[in-house]
Formats: sequence, C-alpha cells, structure tokens
Amino acid sequence: MEYTILNLEVTDGVALVKINRPKALNALNTRFFQEMDAMIEDVSGMQDVKVMVITGEGKAFVAGADIAEMVNKSPEEGTAFSKVGQNTFNSIEKMDIPVIAAINGFALGGGLELAMSCDIRIASSKARFGQPEVNLGLIPGYAGTQRLPRLAGKGDALMLLLTGDMIGAGEALRMGLVQKVVEPEQLTDEVMNLAKTIASKGPQAVKKVKKVVREGLQTDFESGSNLESKQFGSLFGKGSEGEEGMKAFLEKRKPEW
Ligand code: CAA
Repeated sequence: MEYTILNLEVTDGVALVKINRPKALNALNTRFFQEMDAMIEDVSGMQDVKVMVITGEGKAFVAGADIAEMVNKSPEEGTAFSKVGQNTFNSIEKMDIPVIAAINGFALGGGLELAMSCDIRIASSKARFGQPEVNLGLIPGYAGTQRLPRLAGKGDALMLLLTGDMIGAGEALRMGLVQKVVEPEQLTDEVMNLAKTIASKGPQAVKKVKKVVREGLQTDFESGSNLESKQFGSLFGKGSEGEEGMKAFLEKRKPEW
C-alpha cells in the first residue's frame, strides 16, 4: 500500500511509525485505519524488526477519531466505524512484537485508545490525556471503556470518562496510564533506547513474554500459570534460544540469537 498518513523508518531492529496528519491533529479517519492495518502486516513480515514504536507528528499524538468524518453517520454506520477501530487496535495489541507509544502531545479519545492498545507508553511532559467523548454526546468507540479501567482502575477511568476532562502527564503517570514521563526533546531518544534495549534480548523470549502477559490477563491465574509453564518449556532444548542464552552466560560471552 502507498502510505499517505503513516511514515515508516526502520533502524537497528526498531520500526518507527509516525502518524503524519498534523493539520487535523492526526485525527483518525478511515484512511488511517486502512494504512495502519497494512502497516501492521508489513512490519509483522519484517524478520529483522523486533519492536514497533508509534508516535505523532506535530503537537498531537492523536486528538481522537475524526469528528468531521463521524458527524453524519447513522447508528449502523457508527457501530461499523467503532468496529473498524477496535479491530485495528486489537491487531496492534496482538502483534507478536512489543509496541511502544511515544506520546508527544494530545492523546484524546481515539488517540488515548490507540496508546492504550500499545504495550508500553512513554509520554512527553507536555502530553495531555483524556476521553472527551461525553463533550460530544458520545462514548468511546475503540474500546476505551474497556482498556481504561483495566489500566487505571475503575475510579480514575470513570472520572476521565464521565467528565471528559484533560489531564497532564504527571497525573497520567500517577494513574498508571503511562510508564514514564520525559522532557519533550528527550522523548525520541528515550523511546528509541528503550526499544533497542528490548530488541537486543532473546527475540522468542520477548514475544512469549508479551503473549503470556496478554493472554494471562484475559484468563484466571491458574490457566495463565499453565500457559507460562508451557511457553517457558518451549524455550528449552537443543538449538533453542534458551540454550544459547544460558550457555552464553556460563561461557561469559554475549548470546548470538
Ligand atoms: N477530528 C477532526 N478534526 C480535529 C480533531 C478531531 N478529533 N481534533 C482537532 N481537529 C482539527 C480541528 O478541527 C482544527 O481544524 P481546522 O484548522 O481545519 O479548524 C485542527 O484540527 C486544529 O485543532 P484546534 O484548532 O482545535 O487546535 P487547538 O490547539 O485549539 O485545540 C484540541 C486542540 C483541544 C485537541 C482540540 O482540537 C479538540 O478538542 N479536539 C477534539 C478532541 C476530541 O473531542 N476528541 C475525541 C473525538 S471522538 C472519539 O475519539 C470517539 C472514539 O473513541 C471513536
């Protein structure tokens, strides 16, 4: 696909995906979802890519779903528009490799929902967060009502969802919505260093950590622990990644994955 909204740069095993529609504060329209679906497929097919980073161009990460595109939709079209976004964000969450959101500015509505579908969120101190849908007489449509309480807890989630208020990066950190806040000029370096650190680890182990945590959160403790044992065991054996990692430790050398 020819990308008109998304840019891709690959360096040292990290795919940096930039949303580039700054005049509309990177608002999410149908074209964005088509491109993001294609991007997920393209990046997933790149064997040398170990981590994906998503960020926004300009003063916004993403200021939400595209209100101009939504305004005249019928109830059926609204449901379909919600499903399209949910499917894309589920695909991000289900990618084998970890995905990091580098939140450079406004992460509102669908923008916060996009960030929440990523595995780790690092924010600029200038970033602003919110689910302002109630201001528009709407509710979130890209699973914000589901991911936000799971990440921030019911009270903080409902405070954001019911008031539509924006919060700053410090408050987002307190809620556990983001893992780290850095100065704006440090955001790219910080996120790329984090991504490269993860990219240097055992690639199968990294994928399995993500899989077991994600699937474990959707099930009970015992089933999750059983899944862990199974995946733990799959990293052992002749020629396995675990064998190489453990041998390298014992032989005091760097592992060759
Ligand atoms: N959709 C479409 N266009 C948007 C947009 C959005 N979500 N957010 C901003 N824009 C456009 C503005 O209309 C404006 O376009 P023009 O220059 O053509 O007038 C341009 O981006 C710049 O925006 P502002 O002039 O408003 O910039 P600002 O700095 O004064 O304000 C802001 C920034 C506070 C983020 C403000 O733009 C804003 O409140 N945006 C809407 C945020 C919002 O309500 N998001 C939720 C959308 S609904 C949703 O996401 C539902 C879902 O879950 C599926």
